Amino acid sequence: MEKLLINGGKKLDGEVPISGAKNAVLPILAAALLTNGCCVIKNVPKLDDVYVMLSVLEELSVRASWQRDELRLDCSRVAPAAPNPKILGRIRASNLILGPLLGRFKEAEIGACGGCSIGSRPMNLHFAALEVLGAKVLPLEAGYFVFAKALHGGEVHLAFPSVGATENLLMAASLAEGKTVLYNAAAEPEIVDLAGFINAMGGKISGAGSNVITIEGVKRLGGAEYTVMPDRIETGTFLLAGAMCGGTVHLAGARAEHNHALLQALQQAGISFTYNSDKNGSFIEVLGCAGRPLPLQITTASYPGFPTDMQPQLAAMLSLAQGQSMICERIFENRFRFVEELKKMGASIQVRDNCAIIDGVARLHGNTVCATDLRAGAAMVLAGLAAAGRTVVEQVEYIDRGYEDFAGKLSCLGADIYRLSSDKQCKLVV
Ligand code: UD1
Repeated sequence: MEKLLINGGKKLDGEVPISGAKNAVLPILAAALLTNGCCVIKNVPKLDDVYVMLSVLEELSVRASWQRDELRLDCSRVAPAAPNPKILGRIRASNLILGPLLGRFKEAEIGACGGCSIGSRPMNLHFAALEVLGAKVLPLEAGYFVFAKALHGGEVHLAFPSVGATENLLMAASLAEGKTVLYNAAAEPEIVDLAGFINAMGGKISGAGSNVITIEGVKRLGGAEYTVMPDRIETGTFLLAGAMCGGTVHLAGARAEHNHALLQALQQAGISFTYNSDKNGSFIEVLGCAGRPLPLQITTASYPGFPTDMQPQLAAMLSLAQGQSMICERIFENRFRFVEELKKMGASIQVRDNCAIIDGVARLHGNTVCATDLRAGAAMVLAGLAAAGRTVVEQVEYIDRGYEDFAGKLSCLGADIYRLSSDKQCKLVV
């Protein structure tokens, strides 16, 4: 167990590079299973979730080697084994091996997949989509065996634009016979990145980024080189850090077009920023708020709506707003566990059903709090940076899952933040 110690109230100023996107690289790593060639993936963030995904791939006989932020994956020996359920169970995204294994070998076995405890996270939409292509799903004691005699294209209508179900379908359908059209597909930029990688391997996917995606199955996919997009959630987290702590924070490589909903919210909250969308020099620069931010009414939604993965960090900022805000969570049913932790720092928040009503306070004060999940942990750090006094964030392992060198980057901006070992586990108020 480790913890972060933050002496709050320091102004943030300077430049940080935005790392490659966690939610893009995880499906891209899984998609490498579609080929028996070699892939080189660039701009790979060094995160715990990436390390776990690599362990899953290694269980399937992929040989991986790092060179700086580049990963070379040799997939020539891949065989459809059932990876160790203990490894699979460490991240939710391990379910993304289903689509490529089914596509390439017509069978895949997965145990129960893990991930942050922010909701029940079933797999019904993944299975319903794959069944249209001819797959059969056999529930096992712990997990599933999915197989098909042959995979063929079809018309798939997702009942909800699930990110993971869209990704699994894209991967399986890429090696199916004939054309698949996916309606009500997720439109997240990470889906566009995955489609870009599969197309670089020789796939034929069009329409990614819209709600209708067409996949022409091909006989085989080859190795490819690909550069992962910048992380829009890391971008958003640093934008809010800058907004809450004053100063000018320059986010090198950040893409404004991926963060439209958050930038719109920041504008409404009275926070100034500039950006450049030129691909070869893109950035967003936030100019800290002169006074307290204005309150907001936000509802999370699928892309291009406000991202659920930015909701806890936004709640941290709005706990300091000049008035009452409301955040409604529509994607996951259990994403307000951080509220009790934020309240320990003086925030005034009530949760009713799936909405949090936040009465802004003038000041948060430091306390010992817990990272209840990945983004909740980031929210606690933001609150600690802006609070008066010392904050200790326990269970920092959650943050390591999705942020590359979070404390180091904040420290470069002038934050007074340290990482310490801890023998304590948080006592959570559930
Ligand atoms: C991905 C992201 C996660 C993000 C989420 C929503 C990755 C690795 N993770 O997760 O960070 O918070 O998108 O933007 O990219 N659902 C079902 N049945 C299914 C699948 C999903 O009911 O078969 C429900 C889920 O329980 C959830 C909602 O749909 O309530 C959204 O899930 P989904 O879009 O699939 O998210 P993930 O791919 O798990």
